[in-house]
Amino acid sequence: MTQRTLVLLKPDAVRRSQVGEIVRRIEAKGYALVALELRTATPELLAEHYAEHEGKPFYQPLVDFMLSGPLVAIVLEGERSIEGFRSLAGTTDPTGAAPGTIRGDLGRDWGLAVQQNLVHGSDSEESAAREIGIWFPNL
Ligand code: CMP
Repeated sequence: MTQRTLVLLKPDAVRRSQVGEIVRRIEAKGYALVALELRTATPELLAEHYAEHEGKPFYQPLVDFMLSGPLVAIVLEGERSIEGFRSLAGTTDPTGAAPGTIRGDLGRDWGLAVQQNLVHGSDSEESAAREIGIWFPNL
């Protein structure tokens, strides 16, 4: 079934000039770009986006990291694109992410309080609908 998913290229991806490389991988996989914008997050937006992580030890470092510079917000579309993008991204911890994935090829652990793992992808249809509504309310 055709799905839309929200992808964020986090501030580390922008700082490290990996935006083109990551978008290239998304396009090579064959997903359509429905929306793509360079944005700066706000505390309000992140409180909504990361509501499920509130109270976890990495929550504040995560919010601070996501506010540390511009990010790229993307909506992708394609058959089973939610699972497909998460497969392209690799596991959360970039140290163990498989080679061939975005995190496995481009990421590593920097010894910081939060995993700076380059990308975010919605984890279910419900999350995708919620997250697209947060980042692109007009879609
Ligand atoms: P993301 O998919 O954006 O969702 C939550 C983020 O928190 C995750 O990517 C990582 O950047 C970060 N994260 C998740 N688990 C941990 C953890 N155990 N320690 C540090 N950071 C984490």
